[in-house]
Amino acid sequence: MFSPLLLLFPFLSTVSAASQVCGLKPPSGASASASLGGTVHQNTDPSDVIASAWYPGWLATDFPPSSIPWSKYNAMTFSFATTTPDVSMVALDSVSAAALPEFVSAAKSNGVTALLSIGGWTGSIYYSNAMATADNRTAFVTTVLNLVSQYNLDGIDFDWEYPGKTGLSCNVVNPDDSNNFLLFLQELRGTSAGKNLVLTAAVGITPFVGSDGQPMDDVSEFATVLDRVALMAYDVWGSWSPTVGPNAPLNDSCAPVADGSAVSAVNAWTAAKFPANQITLGLASYGHSFRVSPSAALTSNGSLALYPDYDNSPSAQPLGSSDSPGDASALDPCGDPEGVSGIFTFAGLIQDGFLTANGTAAAGIEYTFDECSQTPFVYNQTSNVMVSYDDATSFAAKGRFINDQGLLGFAVWDVTGDQNDILLDSLHQAMGIEAVCSG
Ligand SMILES: *[C@@H]1O[C@H](CO)[C@@H](O)[C@H](O)[C@H]1NC(C)=O
Ligand SMILES: *[C@@H]1O[C@H](CO)[C@@H](O)[C@H](O)[C@H]1NC(C)=O
Ligand SMILES: *[C@@H]1O[C@H](CO)[C@@H](O)[C@H](O)[C@H]1NC(C)=O
Ligand SMILES: *[C@@H]1O[C@H](CO)[C@@H](O)[C@H](O)[C@H]1NC(C)=O
Ligand SMILES: *[C@@H]1O[C@H](CO)[C@@H](O)[C@H](O)[C@H]1NC(C)=O
Repeated sequence: MFSPLLLLFPFLSTVSAASQVCGLKPPSGASASASLGGTVHQNTDPSDVIASAWYPGWLATDFPPSSIPWSKYNAMTFSFATTTPDVSMVALDSVSAAALPEFVSAAKSNGVTALLSIGGWTGSIYYSNAMATADNRTAFVTTVLNLVSQYNLDGIDFDWEYPGKTGLSCNVVNPDDSNNFLLFLQELRGTSAGKNLVLTAAVGITPFVGSDGQPMDDVSEFATVLDRVALMAYDVWGSWSPTVGPNAPLNDSCAPVADGSAVSAVNAWTAAKFPANQITLGLASYGHSFRVSPSAALTSNGSLALYPDYDNSPSAQPLGSSDSPGDASALDPCGDPEGVSGIFTFAGLIQDGFLTANGTAAAGIEYTFDECSQTPFVYNQTSNVMVSYDDATSFAAKGRFINDQGLLGFAVWDVTGDQNDILLDSLHQAMGIEAVCSG
């Protein structure tokens, strides 16, 4: 996924004059409180709604920052700076490095909080080292603060996949990772420059693990140093799973196999004492694909089967949508074959004919909406490609869940996957928020 790395050194960007400032208006009836956002929550501790997404910087050539629908967000996270063996440096690929200044100035001129994410699936290799000792934590605090001032950022997103747990095969992992991460965040928060930064973390569907490798039962201290976490409630089922299943299930307690969902993630994090109003729900503007024979895919009445078997040989894996095809020969940063992820973006499903321009299933494509996961599946019985994805209906269901649970808001991976804001507009409508601009 990443081209050659460029080490970060200062860039100076020209900040264009602000012309228009946009905010997100709470639903009518909610108590108007804050400048940007107000509350959409039923809970007693009103907080601003966070409407955020990640921006994949390496796609900036095809999707420049000017293509972001800025007025519909109030926070945007540029992905990724990656960890390096040297705690005093992080890295950006060359496309990202060129796009980051433009991203920050566009965010600021739109009144949107500009964050930079450090890590990601392939960028977390040396996180553990950076956190391992008091000296390294202090050095990494300096690295982060330099990055903030170099790029004029409002905050940092820590996308460490994952503290204390194996992610990518060559990640450094230490049983003390989660505790070291907390010490690091406390130190960063304790600096005068770090005090007012927006600090966020992208997290898995179960809480950070303790030194015993098990999810901790109390992660409340993280909530005192982080503004919020984004629950990555996607990639729950995919090419690594035993059968087809939902990429981003809203619910799994009604499923034949409970493998995690937005419901389970919110339950697990809040049970571990992380406040609901500091949680944003991660939403997927993409799906995972599987090669499924018609006999497995179609039930006797012609509807689509849920959890069918699929052909898991690597050569059978669909490459993904034509806007983001996988490369079967790619190696990950550990030097291992990356494998084809088979990702179809929502926009790609439209471009490749699975969906119509308005995001509904196209003629000749089988479609089903799984009532438990509250996500759709499409199937082409000629190509045998089945895709589990999110559409306007599943985004709306997640939006209602965010409100019902009193969560802080949402974080979409990623901002480029939508088509004409079909997903985003549905989410806004379900949550009762609207973008308002002035100036
Ligand atoms: C501290 O950081 C340095 C690199 O800057 C690294 O070589 C060293 O291994 C780190 N210490 C630990 C204990 O990981
Ligand atoms: C999840 O499923 C359980 C069991 O069917 C149900 O009680 C609960 O209301 C569902 N939650 C949501 C948000 O759909
Ligand atoms: C078709 O059959 C499946 C199970 O075989 C069932 O779950 C589904 O409700 C049926 N659909 C209709 C429209 O009858
Ligand atoms: C979406 O497009 C299809 C075909 O173009 C059309 O039949 C359908 O009515 C449209 N649906 C909505 C909700 O606009
Ligand atoms: C289904 O797949 C076949 C074979 O790849 C392709 O020719 C056809 O256009 C696809 N159908 C639709 C509706 O996209």
